[in-house]
Amino acid sequence: MASVYPIRFVHLPVVIWLQDGGDRACLPLVCSLDSRYNRCFCRPCFERFMNSPASTDSSTPPVSAPVIAIDGPSGAGKSTVARAVAARLGLLYLDTGALYRAVALKVDREGIDPDDDNALERLCETLSLTLQQDANGHGRVILDGVDVTDLLRTQRLATLASLVSAVPWVRARLLNLQQQMGARGGVVLDGRDIGTVVLPNADVKVYLDADSAVRAVRRQGELAEKGEPVPELAILQAQIERRDEADKSRTIAPLKQAADAVLIDSSQMDPQQVVDAVCDLVG
Ligand code: DC
Repeated sequence: MASVYPIRFVHLPVVIWLQDGGDRACLPLVCSLDSRYNRCFCRPCFERFMNSPASTDSSTPPVSAPVIAIDGPSGAGKSTVARAVAARLGLLYLDTGALYRAVALKVDREGIDPDDDNALERLCETLSLTLQQDANGHGRVILDGVDVTDLLRTQRLATLASLVSAVPWVRARLLNLQQQMGARGGVVLDGRDIGTVVLPNADVKVYLDADSAVRAVRRQGELAEKGEPVPELAILQAQIERRDEADKSRTIAPLKQAADAVLIDSSQMDPQQVVDAVCDLVG
């Protein structure tokens, strides 16, 4: 995908340094964000970067590789907007809610009580969760070696994900994974705490909100499109508001607007207008 090329070039000086006789063995093994480049230069991350085809293309002019954080409540359109922004700007996209949903899937499969902190701690210790990109540049979530991406977007897992996301072990386990993605630069992440906790130094932070009644109407449209049963508007709106409340009131990394995030209320906007507004912020 040609559009990912610009992401790589923001780090060209480092590539030259290594090609000029630098030794990769001197790079650290532990991931950490280099704030000058908004990227991790540990050896595994650097090897991945060097091994991707785009890193050796010299025909594309250097551009900045922004890290964009989009937070907000469920149903505000974050994933639609984040995916479209990433596609337009040639960035990668990570739906962080999918990670929490994957943990919820495992909790569900193993019959673990989401209130059982000890069981969740044990589950996190053995959890094998990785991210991969498919040929179209879309993120895939691999749980215990199996691609579970297409199983994650159910109401049951949304509710369970909201519950398990309040548990410290779960958040700690997923934080590193998200920060590693952010550290590679050139990425759009959407979630609840990206701008406040995961990537507080993101270049652009957006808090995408919308009226809960509008979000419920949109949800009805999505369900109808998928051919699934469509609950009454009032029921959906109540579900949405309950989840908002749970996500906003948890002690750790609650959903809230970062002080330096730009608030976009999408209630009266179509997705294209929101995408334009976010891209304008990137400059
Ligand atoms: O965005 P989503 O509906 O897929 O998220 C499912 C749940 O995961 C959400 O209710 C709260 C949790 N979550 C979170 O706590 N932090 C994130 N960055 C993303 C999601």
